[in-house]
Amino acid sequence: IFLVSCNENNIIYVGTNAEFPPFEYFDKDKIVGFDIDLINEVGNILNKEIKVIHMDFDGLLPALQSKKVDMVIAGMTETEERKENVNFSNSYYEAKQVIIINEDNNYIKSFEDLENKNVGVVLGFTGDALMTEKDNSILKRFSNVYSAVLDLKNGKIEAIVLDSEPAKNIIKNNEGIKVVNTDSLKESYAIAFRKDDENLMLEINNALKKLGENGKYKELIDKYFN
Ligand code: ARG
Repeated sequence: IFLVSCNENNIIYVGTNAEFPPFEYFDKDKIVGFDIDLINEVGNILNKEIKVIHMDFDGLLPALQSKKVDMVIAGMTETEERKENVNFSNSYYEAKQVIIINEDNNYIKSFEDLENKNVGVVLGFTGDALMTEKDNSILKRFSNVYSAVLDLKNGKIEAIVLDSEPAKNIIKNNEGIKVVNTDSLKESYAIAFRKDDENLMLEINNALKKLGENGKYKELIDKYFN
Protein backbone atom coordinates (compact mmCIF):
# COMPACT_ATOMS: atom_id res chain seq x y z
CA ILE A 1 0.00 0.00 0.00
CA PHE A 2 1.27 3.43 -0.87
CA LEU A 3 0.36 6.12 1.56
CA VAL A 4 -0.49 9.37 -0.13
CA SER A 5 1.32 12.03 1.79
CA CYS A 6 -1.10 14.84 1.20
CA ASN A 7 -3.60 14.43 4.01
CA GLU A 8 -5.12 17.09 6.21
CA ASN A 9 -2.35 16.69 8.76
CA ASN A 10 0.16 17.85 6.25
CA ILE A 11 -1.39 21.26 5.94
CA ILE A 12 -0.72 24.09 8.35
CA TYR A 13 -3.29 26.89 8.23
CA VAL A 14 -1.69 30.24 8.92
CA GLY A 15 -3.63 33.43 9.65
CA THR A 16 -2.34 36.82 8.60
CA ASN A 17 -3.53 40.33 7.80
CA ALA A 18 -2.00 41.23 4.45
CA GLU A 19 -2.08 45.00 4.95
CA PHE A 20 1.36 45.38 6.49
CA PRO A 21 4.07 45.70 3.84
CA PRO A 22 6.76 44.43 3.57
CA PHE A 23 5.81 41.70 6.09
CA GLU A 24 2.58 40.73 4.34
CA TYR A 25 0.65 42.45 1.60
CA PHE A 26 -1.33 41.74 -1.54
CA ASP A 27 0.43 41.66 -4.88
CA LYS A 28 -2.69 41.60 -7.09
CA ASP A 29 -4.59 38.78 -5.36
CA LYS A 30 -1.54 36.96 -4.03
CA ILE A 31 -0.34 37.35 -0.44
CA VAL A 32 3.42 37.96 -0.37
CA GLY A 33 6.06 39.38 1.95
CA PHE A 34 8.78 38.58 4.45
CA ASP A 35 6.51 36.66 6.84
CA ILE A 36 5.05 34.65 3.97
CA ASP A 37 8.48 33.66 2.64
CA LEU A 38 9.63 32.87 6.16
CA ILE A 39 6.69 30.62 6.96
CA ASN A 40 7.00 28.83 3.61
CA GLU A 41 10.66 28.10 4.39
CA VAL A 42 9.51 26.72 7.73
CA GLY A 43 6.98 24.58 5.86
CA ASN A 44 9.75 23.24 3.60
CA ILE A 45 11.82 22.19 6.59
CA LEU A 46 8.87 20.49 8.29
CA ASN A 47 7.69 19.02 5.00
CA LYS A 48 4.25 20.57 5.45
CA GLU A 49 2.08 22.56 3.13
CA ILE A 50 1.41 26.12 4.27
CA LYS A 51 -1.95 27.73 3.56
CA VAL A 52 -2.09 31.44 4.35
CA ILE A 53 -5.47 32.99 5.13
CA HIS A 54 -6.09 36.75 5.17
CA MET A 55 -8.37 38.38 7.74
CA ASP A 56 -8.74 41.57 9.78
CA PHE A 57 -5.90 42.05 12.22
CA ASP A 58 -8.14 42.06 15.27
CA GLY A 59 -9.75 38.81 14.09
CA LEU A 60 -6.46 36.89 14.01
CA LEU A 61 -6.16 35.76 17.61
CA PRO A 62 -9.87 34.89 17.88
CA ALA A 63 -9.47 32.77 14.71
CA LEU A 64 -6.49 31.05 16.32
CA GLN A 65 -8.41 30.34 19.53
CA SER A 66 -11.39 28.94 17.64
CA LYS A 67 -9.06 26.71 15.55
CA LYS A 68 -9.83 28.32 12.22
CA VAL A 69 -6.06 28.60 11.85
CA ASP A 70 -3.16 26.76 13.50
CA MET A 71 -0.95 29.78 13.93
CA VAL A 72 -0.66 33.47 13.19
CA ILE A 73 2.21 35.26 11.47
CA ALA A 74 1.46 38.93 11.00
CA GLY A 75 4.36 41.08 12.15
CA MET A 76 2.67 40.54 15.47
CA THR A 77 4.37 41.98 18.51
CA GLU A 78 4.73 39.69 21.45
CA THR A 79 3.01 41.66 24.25
CA GLU A 80 2.25 40.75 27.87
CA GLU A 81 -1.44 41.16 27.21
CA ARG A 82 -1.46 38.80 24.22
CA LYS A 83 0.71 36.31 26.12
CA GLU A 84 -2.14 35.82 28.56
CA ASN A 85 -4.06 34.10 25.77
CA VAL A 86 -1.53 32.69 23.31
CA ASN A 87 2.05 31.42 23.15
CA PHE A 88 4.69 33.07 21.01
CA SER A 89 7.55 31.45 19.10
CA ASN A 90 11.08 32.73 19.42
CA SER A 91 11.13 36.22 18.06
CA TYR A 92 12.15 36.71 14.43
CA TYR A 93 12.26 40.51 14.08
CA GLU A 94 12.76 43.66 16.16
CA ALA A 95 10.78 46.80 15.46
CA LYS A 96 9.54 49.98 17.08
CA GLN A 97 6.83 52.59 16.65
CA VAL A 98 7.47 55.67 14.51
CA ILE A 99 5.39 58.65 13.39
CA ILE A 100 4.33 59.39 9.81
CA ILE A 101 3.54 63.04 8.97
CA ASN A 102 3.13 65.24 5.91
CA GLU A 103 6.39 66.38 4.34
CA ASP A 104 5.66 70.07 5.06
CA ASN A 105 5.02 69.42 8.74
CA ASN A 106 7.88 70.87 10.77
CA TYR A 107 6.35 70.90 14.25
CA ILE A 108 5.97 67.18 15.02
CA LYS A 109 9.35 65.84 16.05
CA SER A 110 8.53 63.35 18.80
CA PHE A 111 5.68 61.65 20.64
CA GLU A 112 5.45 64.67 22.97
CA ASP A 113 4.46 66.81 20.00
CA LEU A 114 1.40 64.61 19.39
CA GLU A 115 -0.32 66.01 22.45
CA ASN A 116 -3.79 67.35 21.57
CA LYS A 117 -3.25 66.47 17.91
CA ASN A 118 -5.46 64.32 15.68
CA VAL A 119 -3.53 61.10 15.40
CA GLY A 120 -4.34 58.00 13.36
CA VAL A 121 -3.64 54.46 14.52
CA VAL A 122 -4.74 51.10 13.17
CA LEU A 123 -7.30 49.28 15.29
CA GLY A 124 -5.68 46.70 17.54
CA PHE A 125 -2.08 47.41 16.55
CA THR A 126 0.48 48.08 19.28
CA GLY A 127 0.54 51.71 18.08
CA ASP A 128 -3.13 51.88 19.10
CA ALA A 129 -2.29 50.47 22.55
CA LEU A 130 0.66 52.85 22.96
CA MET A 131 -1.32 55.97 22.07
CA THR A 132 -4.39 54.87 24.04
CA GLU A 133 -2.18 54.54 27.09
CA LYS A 134 -0.62 57.99 26.60
CA ASP A 135 -4.16 59.32 26.46
CA ASN A 136 -3.25 62.85 25.37
CA SER A 137 -4.01 62.84 21.64
CA ILE A 138 -7.28 62.78 19.73
CA LEU A 139 -7.18 59.26 18.34
CA LYS A 140 -8.79 58.11 15.16
CA ARG A 141 -8.78 54.33 14.69
CA PHE A 142 -8.58 53.01 11.14
CA SER A 143 -9.23 49.49 9.91
CA ASN A 144 -6.00 49.60 7.91
CA VAL A 145 -3.03 51.87 7.35
CA TYR A 146 -3.95 52.71 3.75
CA SER A 147 -7.09 54.58 4.81
CA ALA A 148 -5.11 56.35 7.54
CA VAL A 149 -2.65 57.58 4.89
CA LEU A 150 -5.53 59.02 2.82
CA ASP A 151 -6.77 60.99 5.83
CA LEU A 152 -3.24 62.20 6.57
CA LYS A 153 -2.82 63.49 3.02
CA ASN A 154 -6.26 65.16 3.18
CA GLY A 155 -5.31 66.88 6.42
CA LYS A 156 -7.99 65.12 8.46
CA ILE A 157 -5.31 63.81 10.81
CA GLU A 158 -1.83 65.19 11.46
CA ALA A 159 0.10 62.03 12.18
CA ILE A 160 0.01 58.23 12.08
CA VAL A 161 1.73 56.00 14.62
CA LEU A 162 2.92 52.77 13.00
CA ASP A 163 5.64 50.10 13.10
CA SER A 164 8.97 51.24 11.65
CA GLU A 165 9.40 49.00 8.60
CA PRO A 166 5.84 49.30 7.28
CA ALA A 167 6.13 53.08 7.79
CA LYS A 168 9.30 53.19 5.67
CA ASN A 169 7.64 51.05 3.03
CA ILE A 170 4.54 53.23 2.93
CA ILE A 171 6.40 56.53 2.54
CA LYS A 172 8.41 54.95 -0.28
CA ASN A 173 5.15 54.32 -2.14
CA ASN A 174 3.41 57.61 -1.32
CA GLU A 175 4.44 61.13 -2.29
CA GLY A 176 4.45 63.94 0.24
CA ILE A 177 4.77 62.09 3.53
CA LYS A 178 7.76 61.34 5.76
CA VAL A 179 8.78 59.36 8.84
CA VAL A 180 9.81 60.81 12.19
CA ASN A 181 12.05 58.48 14.09
CA THR A 182 11.31 58.07 17.78
CA ASP A 183 12.84 56.66 20.91
CA SER A 184 9.96 54.22 21.41
CA LEU A 185 10.68 50.86 23.01
CA LYS A 186 11.73 47.88 20.94
CA GLU A 187 9.04 45.35 20.04
CA SER A 188 9.65 41.74 19.05
CA TYR A 189 7.65 40.07 16.31
CA ALA A 190 6.82 36.41 16.82
CA ILE A 191 4.45 33.69 15.60
CA ALA A 192 1.41 33.04 17.78
CA PHE A 193 0.06 29.60 18.78
CA ARG A 194 -2.71 28.24 20.94
CA LYS A 195 -1.51 27.57 24.47
CA ASP A 196 -2.45 23.89 24.18
CA ASP A 197 -0.43 23.49 20.98
CA GLU A 198 3.04 23.49 22.43
CA ASN A 199 4.35 20.75 20.11
CA LEU A 200 3.69 22.78 17.01
CA MET A 201 5.41 25.75 18.59
CA LEU A 202 8.49 23.67 19.41
CA GLU A 203 8.65 22.32 15.86
CA ILE A 204 8.43 25.83 14.46
CA ASN A 205 11.11 27.11 16.83
CA ASN A 206 13.42 24.34 15.65
CA ALA A 207 12.73 25.21 12.03
CA LEU A 208 13.37 28.91 12.70
CA LYS A 209 16.66 27.97 14.31
CA LYS A 210 17.65 25.98 11.23
CA LEU A 211 16.81 28.91 8.95
CA GLY A 212 19.12 31.02 11.07
CA GLU A 213 21.91 28.47 10.73
CA ASN A 214 21.59 27.72 7.01
CA GLY A 215 21.60 31.36 5.93
CA LYS A 216 17.99 31.43 4.65
CA TYR A 217 16.87 33.89 7.31
CA LYS A 218 19.65 36.30 6.37
CA GLU A 219 18.73 35.91 2.70
CA LEU A 220 15.16 36.97 3.43
CA ILE A 221 16.29 39.91 5.56
CA ASP A 222 18.46 41.10 2.66
CA LYS A 223 15.64 40.58 0.18
CA TYR A 224 13.12 42.69 2.11
CA PHE A 225 15.03 45.18 4.23
CA ASN A 226 18.30 46.14 2.56
N1 ARG B 1 3.30 44.97 15.37
C1 ARG B 1 2.00 45.52 15.52
C2 ARG B 1 1.16 44.66 16.45
O1 ARG B 1 1.50 43.60 16.79
C3 ARG B 1 1.28 45.65 14.20
C4 ARG B 1 1.12 44.37 13.44
C5 ARG B 1 0.21 44.51 12.25
N2 ARG B 1 0.31 43.38 11.39
C6 ARG B 1 -0.46 43.15 10.31
N3 ARG B 1 -0.20 42.10 9.60
N4 ARG B 1 -1.45 43.91 10.01
O2 ARG B 1 0.11 45.09 16.84
